[in-house]
Amino acid sequence: MKKNIFFFILCGLSIFVVLSQFNCEPQEKTMTKEELIANGKYLVNAGGCNDCHSPKVMTKMGPVLDTTRLLSGHPANEPTPELDLKAAGLHNWILTSMDLTEWLGPWGISFSRNLTPDSTTGIGAWSFQDFVNTLRNGKHLGTGRDLLPPMPWQSIGQMKDADLKAIFTYLQSIPAIHNEVPNPVPPPMVADYFKKK
Ligand code: HEC
Repeated sequence: MKKNIFFFILCGLSIFVVLSQFNCEPQEKTMTKEELIANGKYLVNAGGCNDCHSPKVMTKMGPVLDTTRLLSGHPANEPTPELDLKAAGLHNWILTSMDLTEWLGPWGISFSRNLTPDSTTGIGAWSFQDFVNTLRNGKHLGTGRDLLPPMPWQSIGQMKDADLKAIFTYLQSIPAIHNEVPNPVPPPMVADYFKKK
C-alpha cells in the first residue's frame, strides 16, 4: 500500500514537471518609462490618432500635420468655414473640416478633443484608469456622455491594457497645449451654429 502511494505521488510529480515544460506563455517584461513612451509614440502614429486629433497646415496637396500642436484637438479659436446646410445635402453625407478635427453628421457636430497633458483643457488630470474606462466604455471618463463619431473607440477600446498604458504614458509626456475644444453641437442647434458664423 505504502509503495502504491509513493508510486502515485511520483507519477503526479512527473506529470506536473512535463506539463510545466509546455507553459510557453511569454513572460511580460516590465518596460521602463522610456520604453513605454517610445512604444506609445509608435502606437499613436501607427494608430492614426493624429489624423483627427492634431491640427494641420494646408498645402497644395491638402492637410499635413502641424507638428507644433500635435494632438491638441480642434483648434478653438480658428473660424469654422461657412456652410450652406441645404446645398450640403446633410442627410446623405458626413462632412469634415479640411483639418479633420470638426465633424458634421446625424449626431450633430463633434470636435476632436485635446489629448495633450494640459490639466484643464487636455487629459493632464486624468488617471490611466480614466483613460482606459473612456476607451473601453465609449463614454467620457467611463461613465459620462457617449463619445460621438467618428472617434473609433469601438476598435481602439479593444487594445490590450499594456498598449493603452503605453499610449497614455506617451500622451502624458508630450508638450501640454492649452486649447479649450468646444462642446459638441446637438442636431437641433446645428443650423444656428452655422448662422452665427
Ligand atoms: C476618425 C477620427 C479619430 C481618430 C482616428 C481618433 N479619434 Fe479620438 N476622438 C475623435 C473625436 C471627434 C472625439 C470627440 C468625440 C466627442 O466629443 O464625443 C474623440 C475623442 C477621444 C477621446 C475622449 C476625450 C474626452 O475628453 O472624453 C479620447 C481619449 C481619444 N479620442 C483618444 C484617441 C486615441 C488614443 C486615438 C488613436 C489611437 C484616437 N482617439 C483616434 C476622433 C478621432
